[in-house]
Amino acid sequence: MTVRAVPSTENPVDDRRPIVIDCDPGQDDAVALLLAMAAPKELDLLGITTVAGNVPLEKTQRNARIICDLAERQDMPVFAGCERPLKREPITAENVHGDEGIDGMEIFEPETPLHSRDAVDFIVDTLKSADEESVTLVPTGPLTNVATAIERDRSILGGIREIVLMGGAMREGGNRSPSAEFNVLVDPHAADVVFNCGRPVVAMGLDVTHQVLASPERVKNIRALGNPVARAVAGMLGFFERFDKSKYGSEGAPLHDPCTVAYLLEPALFKGKDVNVSVECDSELTVGHTAVDFWHVTDRPINTRWMYDVDVDGFFELLIDRLNRYDRRQYRGDVQDRRDPE
Ligand code: BDR
Ligand code: CA
Repeated sequence: MTVRAVPSTENPVDDRRPIVIDCDPGQDDAVALLLAMAAPKELDLLGITTVAGNVPLEKTQRNARIICDLAERQDMPVFAGCERPLKREPITAENVHGDEGIDGMEIFEPETPLHSRDAVDFIVDTLKSADEESVTLVPTGPLTNVATAIERDRSILGGIREIVLMGGAMREGGNRSPSAEFNVLVDPHAADVVFNCGRPVVAMGLDVTHQVLASPERVKNIRALGNPVARAVAGMLGFFERFDKSKYGSEGAPLHDPCTVAYLLEPALFKGKDVNVSVECDSELTVGHTAVDFWHVTDRPINTRWMYDVDVDGFFELLIDRLNRYDRRQYRGDVQDRRDPE
């Protein structure tokens, strides 16, 4: 199989936004992937790169491929990347996501193949051959793959339009340590590289993602769509919910990672502020903390648009509308198969 890894910005009539999703599925990563694949007119998903995070790499790459099968996108190139963080020991989150990472839906051996190239090589090559400032990176896991790509060849930064990531926390405090959000805690050194890479960063931290709660009512509405994708999403959210309910006493699981893709589709749903974000890499006590200079009390340079508010009902309207498209299959006609004809 030959895969086209060249952003479609080469085609002047194609105004879809080329993106690469770098993820560690994870139920919420899975929903982010499904939301992106349900937007083939707006987003040109060039490939999915996977990293160790919620579960080890072997499972995150398999889970990404299961999600492609579910969306009937077996043509989507899926790559496996870094097995461990840059400097620290791996941390996983089976207590939140289950032993398989996407528990709550059927787990099976997917047809979608794992691409033979490494995820970091794919990111580097894609950005090197892309038009200037054209490709949006969408990391929804620890930032190890993206940081490794940047450190390998800084010339790739020219190909990046922006980096829309899920990570960090300010007002909400941490979800895996008192100070740190999971993705940044797992690889703070990688997060430090990405936040300071010089390209625009949009950060969906816990301050915003903890507002996006998949309440039983919302999960019921998703299940009621009746198509296989919506049913799988409802199953995953039902599983995910049990942990957050007992931890936060909240009315449902936060849909962290889909905030990134929702922002690409409807940026007006979110409010943000341009700030400096610095990452604590050394302190034993607060490692992985994102120091967000929300009130501009330092002269550290602006490096991030920090999102802090979201129209939650608008978010779920968008999600439900897009998941419903899997039923009507109306999106099939817009999907461009990524396999070149032999
Ligand atoms: C982040 O950590 C993971 O558990 C989720 O998939 C999300 O990316 C939230 O802290
Ligand atoms: Ca994730």
